Amino acid sequence: MKIAIMGAMLEEVEPFLSHSEHEPLLKHFVKTNEMRYGGNTYHEGTYKNLEIVLAYSKIGKVNATLTAATLLEKFGADVLLFTGVAGAINPALNIGDLVAATALCQHDLDISIFGHPHGFVPEGAVYVKPSTELLATAQRVAKAKGVNLRHGIIATGDQFIASAKRKEWVAQTFQADAIEMEGAAVAVVCDALKVPFFILRAISDAADMDAQFDFDAFLKESAKVSSSFVIAMLEELSHG
Ligand code: ADE
Repeated sequence: MKIAIMGAMLEEVEPFLSHSEHEPLLKHFVKTNEMRYGGNTYHEGTYKNLEIVLAYSKIGKVNATLTAATLLEKFGADVLLFTGVAGAINPALNIGDLVAATALCQHDLDISIFGHPHGFVPEGAVYVKPSTELLATAQRVAKAKGVNLRHGIIATGDQFIASAKRKEWVAQTFQADAIEMEGAAVAVVCDALKVPFFILRAISDAADMDAQFDFDAFLKESAKVSSSFVIAMLEELSHG
């Protein structure tokens, strides 16, 4: 089985690559190749019996779409696991909390003037759902490791949100729990190409007026929380 691991920013995938800093995390990762394609670097390797292809896309929906499609179409990934950070919309979520997406939507997709709901375009859907099998795998891993894995709706858009007003609107309109800038793009690509996917985010900020500072302060720490969990999922997937 070939597994794509994707993030948006270097910081989100760095824990998979920097052996010295996180030695115990990836002592079984063997890198076999590195390829530049379409402005991104794709790292190929193995983790136990799994083939891995790993890349970060750069921020935003368009960049995420290119990378997700490349991981599936050029590298032939059978499954995609996304790891990274998000802003909290649900006030019950704190910095460092892990959220597995149960559904993803695009909060900035708007043809509502034609009478469509926000986040909807004809022949599309407001919400795209990840693989229930991968969500179940994540739940098993969380239970075994004693990790508090939350589930929630993730809203995606090409904006860094640092506003109580926008946050409230996204919460009301989409019942979203967390907000970021790539997940729904990845979801649309994987759904269209019928490849099971899983989107995991650790909270880095509360998408409020402190978000810019919290993001800078917690990006690396929260990215590591998320990537550590994905590594535990690889371990589980390598058994099955
Ligand atoms: N990713 C992490 N925090 C975010 C925020 N506040 N808005 C958009 N994307 C984010």
